[in-house]
Amino acid sequence: YTAELDASDIEKGTYPHYMLKEIDEQPFVMRNIIKHYQNEDGNLKLDDDIREAMKETDRIYIVACGTSYNAGLVGKQLIENIAKVPVEVHIASEFVYNMPLLSEKPLFIFISQSGETADSRAVLVAIKKLGHKALTITNVPGSTLSREANYTLNLYAGPEIAVASTKAYTAQIAVLAILAVDAARAQGIELDFNPLQELAIVANAIESLTDQKETMERVAQEYLSETRNAFFIGRAVDYFVCLEGSLKLKEISYIQAEGFAGGELKHGTIALIEDGTPVIALSTQEHVDLSIRGNVKEVAARGANTCVISTEVTKDEGDRIVLPEVHEYLTPLVSVVPLQLIAYYAALHRDCDVDKPRNLAKSVTVE
Ligand code: AGP
Repeated sequence: YTAELDASDIEKGTYPHYMLKEIDEQPFVMRNIIKHYQNEDGNLKLDDDIREAMKETDRIYIVACGTSYNAGLVGKQLIENIAKVPVEVHIASEFVYNMPLLSEKPLFIFISQSGETADSRAVLVAIKKLGHKALTITNVPGSTLSREANYTLNLYAGPEIAVASTKAYTAQIAVLAILAVDAARAQGIELDFNPLQELAIVANAIESLTDQKETMERVAQEYLSETRNAFFIGRAVDYFVCLEGSLKLKEISYIQAEGFAGGELKHGTIALIEDGTPVIALSTQEHVDLSIRGNVKEVAARGANTCVISTEVTKDEGDRIVLPEVHEYLTPLVSVVPLQLIAYYAALHRDCDVDKPRNLAKSVTVE
């Protein structure tokens, strides 16, 4: 890829679908984010007023929909663990009915690829009436949510045409990591995590995965060709990525997919497991590796067709896909890639319209 996305980027070029092209663009997007969020002395480049707003707030409310909501769940973990600021994450269409703002100086962060999502904008209008501040993280500067917020952070992901969001999701998490580190440094918190350096490693890791398309296609064929349902299980941040992986599969292949917290299976959802039920398990977090592998055994004992995705550190024999190791804060940027590709190939094998799935629009501008 060239250093800048050029106009041709709204063409599919040699790709059969925009979605596949946009999955492949993710390493470039990581590098583009590094370029735009780094100043000449190699430090993070963020507006002072955003830095100030992050410093002043006593509670952050992340508000979003769909994939952007799923990115917000990872963002909560990043901001709380790195910048030590409490964060709530809300689905915009639900939050608008009940906004018990239990803090003196709330800061609202709207995550929206399009910047035009009506559900999110409804919340923005409501909180501005209350005199609160808003930061929009979007791929479209100049969009409604960007213009009407006090601050904007750009995803620099280039046009995302496919209805199923891929490169915007990873870009959102990358920008949230940068925001969290900048906020921590503004408070004098010492960190041994440099997001710009780690994102360069992530870019290479994603590249190695997008070079393994045959593996991902085989997994889609083996596990998802005949099934009506599919489950994704994970613990800790892997659970949030399972929610995103299940949304990808649902919206383009129409398979009834669901993401579960591994620890919740015994509280009800394991009743859904039948002979042959495909269960994809993510295990990228060492501290929960044994527990999620216990869940894999439980569902396999009930007939599930299990597929484990792990990393160089957590890998075990029989794991189907092993991800390259990246900084623990950024594993979602890598673990989501096989789920994006598996969803793509599952939809392809079902002759679904990958880029324009039924009933869906790229930007939901109605409430
Ligand atoms: C994601 O693949 C979907 N296309 C959808 O859930 C999307 O993330 C949601 O509509 C939010 O869109 P936004 O990021 O443009 O606000």
